[in-house]
Amino acid sequence: MSEVPYSNKRPQFGNRFLTEEDNVFEHNAWDDVEWDEVQEKEAQNKVDKNSEVKLETDVIEKYEKEADKFWDAFSIFIRTDFSRIGIDFSTKAIDILKTTKEYDENRCKAFVLDATQNNWDVPFEENSIDIIVLIFVLSAINPEKLQHIVKQIYSYLRPGGLVLFRDYGRYDLAQLRFKSGRCLGENFYVRGDGTRVYFFTQDEVKSLFEKEGFEEVENRADRRLQVNRGRLLKMYRVWIQAKYKKPQ
Ligand SMILES: C[S@@+](CC[C@H](N)C(=O)[O-])C[C@H]1O[C@@H](n2cnc3c(N)ncnc32)[C@H](O)[C@@H]1O
Repeated sequence: MSEVPYSNKRPQFGNRFLTEEDNVFEHNAWDDVEWDEVQEKEAQNKVDKNSEVKLETDVIEKYEKEADKFWDAFSIFIRTDFSRIGIDFSTKAIDILKTTKEYDENRCKAFVLDATQNNWDVPFEENSIDIIVLIFVLSAINPEKLQHIVKQIYSYLRPGGLVLFRDYGRYDLAQLRFKSGRCLGENFYVRGDGTRVYFFTQDEVKSLFEKEGFEEVENRADRRLQVNRGRLLKMYRVWIQAKYKKPQ
């Protein structure tokens, strides 16, 4: 089984803040850690290094064309408590969701959709959806196609409707850990199991949504320091969390 490429688990999250007096190895995790210029530079150096070699165009195209197959394979390992997916382009992910006992067609509809398609064939009207939740979804998609997806999202949300976004941030541990030879494009990589991942900055997220007319409600970098106390390792996680509203 391949490594689960992301985690929504929030270990002891909340409000443990690291101060100069604290021993960093005293706890498993610290919230809202500050990054200084040196750390930022070191992270950029690692990214430069693991992005030096780009994959061949035909390999990049294969991952683009067959993306659903790779997510299908990944979805076999998805936990079945995965109750928030309504739309996915992995047939397997949708099948798994539909077999959970909580799945109730009267309250929720799950269906397969490739969100990069020009026209969405969906069982609801434009201007009708209250909330769209994008949790670790946009990072799985070719960044060149994201603007179109955000445009579609805008058209299906009702005026006043919200998008809730949480995804990988630039220089997250997962990005710095990539070895050379996995890079598809700037800040875009392919994992060993064939699934792809993009790492966002706050500004990119802002621009994606504001370009389509959304109003920003929140856009923050959630920076957590996770500590392996046994091996005295420090692991910096970065996620972007944002909320955008379609004007009334
Ligand atoms: C990292 S998983 C996140 C799943 C879920 N949101 C969660 O938080 O557990 C990314 C999901 O995006 C889906 N995905 C990737 N490309 C897509 C596309 N073009 N259209 C729709 N869904 C896509 C994958 O099938 C996969 O289920």
